[in-house]
Amino acid sequence: MKLLVTGGAGFIGSNFIRHILTTHPDWRVVNFDKLTYAGNLENLRDVESSDGYSFVQGDIADREAVAQLFSDLKPQAVVNFAAESHVDRSILDASAFIETNIKGTQVLLEAAREYAVERFVQISTDEVYGTLGEEGAFTEHSPLVPNNPYAASKAAADLVCRSYWKAYGVPLVITRSSNNYGPYQFPEKLLPVMIRNALNGKELPVYGEGKQVRDWLYVEDNCRALDLVLLKGRTGEVYNIGGDCERRNIEIVNLICDILAARVDEPRSFKELITFIKDPRGAAHDFRYALDCSKLQSELDWKPSVDLEEGLERTVDWYLGNQQWVESVITGEYQEYYQKVYGGR
Ligand code: NAD
Ligand code: DAU
Repeated sequence: MKLLVTGGAGFIGSNFIRHILTTHPDWRVVNFDKLTYAGNLENLRDVESSDGYSFVQGDIADREAVAQLFSDLKPQAVVNFAAESHVDRSILDASAFIETNIKGTQVLLEAAREYAVERFVQISTDEVYGTLGEEGAFTEHSPLVPNNPYAASKAAADLVCRSYWKAYGVPLVITRSSNNYGPYQFPEKLLPVMIRNALNGKELPVYGEGKQVRDWLYVEDNCRALDLVLLKGRTGEVYNIGGDCERRNIEIVNLICDILAARVDEPRSFKELITFIKDPRGAAHDFRYALDCSKLQSELDWKPSVDLEEGLERTVDWYLGNQQWVESVITGEYQEYYQKVYGGR
């Protein structure tokens, strides 16, 4: 198998490449990544010399670069992780989200069409469905009602994908997963922000009252699901991938504080650092996500295997052991971004 992974230097992409190199050691994997602020080759340092792995730097929205890549590699399958992925950044400026997430996906689809790839997996998100109230769960047939520019750009990409399947027969599958967590997540998302700030004795900034609900999925479980979808998912179909693990944000932050407190030499109450701040997402902040994953479970026999307690412990331990990684991926641009979202805290 010659597999093209785009966005493989990011959080989920790097975990996926590691998973594939372990489970399919005979495959050839090419990682095509622009290396934005969120892409970091350090995420793959332990596997970069593996047989069958190679890296090409480039932009999925750059037609010429993508044409060259497909002409050189002639991939049999593509898994498209490459995206601008952070909601808060999309509210500050949507431009890069439209360019990469929509145009970039179309450029890849066009190349996939021309080179007749046998499988194209589009990595989408539960955010395309919009928000839920206290009850219910999204199925693959729920309408697309995105509420922020990131979610809108991913929903648009899903529709472009659908049209390439219907109009040109590009053999694609779309996955929509809930909130992933685990090693190598850039310190702008909830868990790594809280862990880093707690270790530095900084405020733990919880948006609003912390009552929003997310469904937490350990990243390795997502990678297992993606591997199955890549090999056995039905062409033209959408698959939800969720952790069956709904928690309010404040519960997650409290759990992180408890785990950290149990690991430091001098017991400290990290919870004293929790600070409720004005919600930077305002009306665009989705209240609750929950996914019905019965299709994936019944068709591909998948269910999550890492429970929240174990997943959070593994994640906190990884960040404790990799504080140098955290500081190395943070640049001056990050400090500026942090000021804008967190109001100078
Ligand atoms: P991330 O921000 O950690 O990584 C994104 C990667 O894409 C980076 O390596 C970046 O350099 C690369 N990239 C960005 N623009 C590019 C471009 N124009 N050309 C080539 N590479 C480019 O993101 P993530 O959290 O790993 O998410 C990966 C995918 O999964 C995204 O498509 C995202 O929408 C989706 N997703 C993420 C989650 C989550 O909880 N993190 C949940 C559901 C879906
Ligand atoms: O649901 C899938 C989505 O999950 C993916 O499509 C996105 O790429 C990914 O970023 C994630 O989006 P969220 O917006 O849910 O994740 P984030 O970690 O940014 O925020 C989780 C919740 O925590 C959300 O309700 C906002 C809140 N939050 C976040 C941060 C960064 C805080 O209260 N404080 C914070 O500092």
